[in-house]
Amino acid sequence: MDDCTDDLEVRGNRVGLRALRPSDSELLANWSRSRVLGEFNDLGPHDEDLKASMPAAHLLVVALAGCSPLGDVSWHLVRHGPNRGSRAWNIGINLVPAARGQGFGSEAQRLLAQHLFATTDVNRVEASTDVENLAEQRSLEKAGFRREGVLRQAQFRAGAWHDLYLYGRVRSDRS
Ligand SMILES: CC(C)(COP(=O)(O)OP(=O)(O)OC[C@H]1O[C@@H](n2cnc3c(N)ncnc32)[C@H](O)[C@@H]1OP(=O)(O)O)[C@@H](O)C(=O)NCCC(=O)NCCS
Repeated sequence: MDDCTDDLEVRGNRVGLRALRPSDSELLANWSRSRVLGEFNDLGPHDEDLKASMPAAHLLVVALAGCSPLGDVSWHLVRHGPNRGSRAWNIGINLVPAARGQGFGSEAQRLLAQHLFATTDVNRVEASTDVENLAEQRSLEKAGFRREGVLRQAQFRAGAWHDLYLYGRVRSDRS
């Protein structure tokens, strides 16, 4: 059995987050190929300059029981002003269908926010999700994020503009 506990960046009760290994590339390609059309994360081909304009970091979400990979979390920098104190991380998550609805998503997002507060100096971690993505809204709330507002027609998906809810968690939040 794979042992993931030695190289976890952060460990929770049931899931951990670990760095991607070169040997994960086939798994990630399979996940990408099997992404279900029409799901909230089916955003079509990425913009060509995405990597340069919005480089994202990733960690793999693994189950501590058996170390099986459940999905991945990512984050990228957003700025709410030109100075260092006005930076924030915007996070994202995708779990494989078999791993959903069991509380892994909320634990993974709580761990990621804790990890980013512990390892960087940002004061704010945020996430946005479709106003119809009830599972992610509830998952973020269970992870201690608060709903802060609506980003009207912010995301283009499946041939139409979609409203997103913006969620945030700040360093001083206690939940
Ligand atoms: C969204 C996602 C990360 C959530 O993670 P998860 O492990 O499935 O979620 P959790 O089990 O932690 O919590 C889901 C909560 O939403 C609730 N929920 C799920 N589907 C729901 C629905 N259709 N209506 C209302 N509530 C719903 C669950 O009951 C649960 O709440 P509870 O624990 O109070 O009962 C995961 O389902 C996923 O990867 N989905 C596909 C990709 C995606 O949408 N990513 C986010 C894009 S912004």
